[in-house]
Formats: sequence, structure tokens, C-alpha cells
Amino acid sequence: MAEAEIIVMGCNTLADIHPFLYGQFIEMAGTCINGGLYDPTHPQARSDGLRADVVEGLRELRPTHIRYPGGCGATYFDWQELVGPRDERPRAKLFRTQNTAQSTAFGIPEAHALCRELGAELYLTVNAHTQSPEDAAHLVEYLNSTRPTRWADLRRTHGREEPYGVKLFGLGNEIYGNWQAGQKSATEYARWCREAILQMKRVDPTIQVVVCGLGRPNPEWDRTVLFETVGLADMISVHNYFGRPIFRDSMSAFRVCEAMFNGLNALIDEAADTALGVHPLTHRELGSPPAVPFRPLIAFDEWNVWYRSKHDPEHDLEEYFNFGDALTVASLLHVVLRNARTVGLSNISLALNTLALMMADKRGLFKQTTWYAHKAIRDAHAAGRVVETPVAAPVFCAKHERFFCGIVNPEKARDEKLPSLLHFNDVSALDVLASIDDHRKRMTLSVIQKLEDRPLTAALTFRGVTPRTDRVMVTRLVGASVTAGNTMDQPEAVHLTTETVRLGETVTFPPASLTVFEFDL
Ligand code: AHR
Repeated sequence: MAEAEIIVMGCNTLADIHPFLYGQFIEMAGTCINGGLYDPTHPQARSDGLRADVVEGLRELRPTHIRYPGGCGATYFDWQELVGPRDERPRAKLFRTQNTAQSTAFGIPEAHALCRELGAELYLTVNAHTQSPEDAAHLVEYLNSTRPTRWADLRRTHGREEPYGVKLFGLGNEIYGNWQAGQKSATEYARWCREAILQMKRVDPTIQVVVCGLGRPNPEWDRTVLFETVGLADMISVHNYFGRPIFRDSMSAFRVCEAMFNGLNALIDEAADTALGVHPLTHRELGSPPAVPFRPLIAFDEWNVWYRSKHDPEHDLEEYFNFGDALTVASLLHVVLRNARTVGLSNISLALNTLALMMADKRGLFKQTTWYAHKAIRDAHAAGRVVETPVAAPVFCAKHERFFCGIVNPEKARDEKLPSLLHFNDVSALDVLASIDDHRKRMTLSVIQKLEDRPLTAALTFRGVTPRTDRVMVTRLVGASVTAGNTMDQPEAVHLTTETVRLGETVTFPPASLTVFEFDL
């Protein structure tokens, strides 16, 4: 007997799955790049110094783009120090967040080459902290210009005639925070961006530029940045980290993410209305509206589960994820996909060693539980359109921090009265996302069953779409419990399995599970 019902509405498209939803992030921090991805001394190192096992792990994730070099890491490099012959670059820079040295050997050309190898776009974070808007425009000229001008000529001097054609630029990182060098007020930053984008887009009008937003804790920051850059900036970023030591609480993280997108979208609408000339502030505050009115999108360019580990020089943010965290990552990807009309770019933070999908050291590499969840969702919903999927299922209560608040003490996590918590009384036991790839005649359904203590049976109904056969491919994330995790010694304690099965009218989902169905249409 079915306790729940899932209805796939094949004709009701929520959003198209566009090219920048499955990004990765590699940062000049901890051992993500130096001593991780780039380690010429490692037995697995290729001739370019990159570890073959790490590159292979990245390749399997099929990243749509790669964000580099930070994060906070971007703050400490002038772009001129990350190009040209390696022996002419400074040997290393001090990453002051942890007082550790970061080599410059894996610079912009090397990051670009990795992206080309993986079929991904390079998403470059510009140092808006301690460099000038002019420096940002010079960077675009160096990378993308075909003309015989100073910075394009420098590229030629460095042995590269062909432009790099980098299309995605982020202006700074969390520049509102006192943990960054070159912290700015919203007004200072917004003016910096306005000037930089104008100059950058004069060099190459085809680039897309992302400005730093802040999200929930300070809408005034976002309003100031948006009003100053609307019509110029293509996207505004927001960062957040989720998860709790209590599994059922983590299963409500997606609600915090949804609320964050809704809040930012309201501000973007306000600014876009201004650009279109329908907002009363337009002429009074801004003079004439910008010439190219378009609505900026959200760049969710740092997100992950993070509630256990601290910045420290030895083991910087080395978070060991469990099965429950993998389900949190899957449900956050569901939110991104459902909101892909307004989320223009998304990348999990990070790829290796620091808050990472993969862990690598001298002994080898293992993939974290979250790597498998990310792969399952990325492969399931690679292209096509997300369709509406109403669900009727039991609900449960859960609580979650309003915004990333650092490390959560497992004891205090049980305290129901902490003011930093949001309480949700109606979290659905099933989190379902369906997409249809009309081109490949394929429909996929990913289902997160959030009840930890029992299985749940659901009836599956299709409207406006009919699977060709009842034989479907099923992929499951398997592991012994919600606390199971992978280690160097047990690298596959949590992994994916795939089989073809015959589907009846109902499906029973195991407790705390991720299941992906692939139907032929
Ligand atoms: O590496 C994770 C760090 O977290 C990033 O550098 C920064 O952007 C965030 O605060």
C-alpha cells in the first residue's frame, strides 16, 4: 500500500538545464591545488605536474566550469604573477588566511589547459581586493584580445598567439568580510565593479561578469551592489554552507537554500525593474537607465556541507563527509536545478582536500560520499528541462541554521531554542526531481527518501509523458548507515550501484536513500 504519491508532469517545464550548473572549484588554499592537484613529486604526477588520479576524478564529474584561483586565495595574487614563464613568476605567495605559502606554478595558463582537457570553461576570480579596475581590464586584454596592444602582446611574448577566450569572470570573493585582504564597503565595492565591468566589457563584450553578493545576512549589501551594476553585471554571487550533526536537520538544508534564492531574486527584480525604467528610483538616483537592460542571474559559486572543520595551516578545512551529507548535497543540487531559470551558475566548494569531493595525499586518492551524490545527480540531469513533480508524502520536523555560522557543536545542536535556528514543521519525506531530455528521448527521476528509520512506498504516476517500457535503469547510493563515510583504507564504503529493473506501479525507497531512475521515452 502506497503512503506517498509522485506525479511527473511532463509538459510543465520549470527550467532548462543550462551549461553552468555543475561547476567545480579549485583554490590556492590548503592542499587543494598545491600538494594536491598539482604535485610534480607524486608518483601519479603527469609531465605537467598534475596528478593523474585527481584529474581522472575530476573528469568523471564532467565539470561544466572550474572556478579558480579562489575564494580567499584570489585575494593574494596579482594576475600578472600567475602568467608567463614559471621561472619568472614569484616562487610562492603567502596565503595570509592561514599564513601558509602557495606556489604560483599552477597559474592561469595551467588552469586554462586543465579546463580545455576536461571540456569545461574557466571561471576566473579577479582580485578586486588589492588590484584596480584597470588591472581587471588588462587581464581581459591579456587573455582575450587579438589586437596588437600592450597586454595582448605580453601574452604573445609568453608564447601564445591565440587568445585564451576566457568567458567567465568573478569580481573578488566575499569582499564584505574581514577575513579577506582588501575588505570593502558595499558602496566602495559597487563603484569598483561598475568601473571594472565597463572597462572589461569594452575590451571583450562577450564576457560574463559576476559580482559578489552576500545574501540573507545583509540584503543592503546586495541592493547597493545590484543598483550600481544592473545592466552591466551578468550575475550576482551568493555563498552558503549547510548541514548539521543531526541527520533529519540536514534534510531541511534545502529550505534555507530556497529562501536564500527567493530573497536574492526579490532584490534582483527590484534592480532589474530599475534598469527597465519602471522603478521610481531610476531617474532620481541613477540618472538614465543603463542602455542594455537585462536581469542579472544568481551565481551560487560556493556551497557545500560544512559544519565540522576549521581553517588551520595543517589540515585546512579537511571535512570528512558521510552518507547523510551526500544526501544533503543531492537535495541542494535539486534546489539549484529547480531554480535554474534564475540561477545562472553553480559550483560546489571544493574539488580536492579542502571541503572536498575528493581527498588525496601521498598514499593515494579516495572519493568522498559527496562525490558519488554529485556524480549521480550530474549524470541524471545532464541536459534538457526540469519538469514539475508534485509529491504527496509524510512530513517531519527539522531545524537548520539561518545562514552558515561556522562549526556546529554536536551537543549544542540538540538545543531546540537557539535563536540562530529556523524550524520547519513540514519537510517532505520525499525530495523528487524529474528532467526530460527530449533530444535523447530520456527521462530521469532522482528521489531522496529522508526518513532515517523506515522505508517508504510511493505510487508513481506520469502525466504528459509516457515511458516506453517498464524496464528502467536504477542507480543507488549505497552505504551501511547515514554516518558511513569513505576513507583511504575503505574508499568504497559508500558508492553507486546500477542495474536494470522492471518497475511496478509502486516503488519502495529504502530509509535515508538516493535513487535515480532512467526511463526511455
Ligand atoms: O575554501 C573555502 C573558503 O570559504 C573560501 O576561500 C572562501 O571563499 C570561503 O570563506
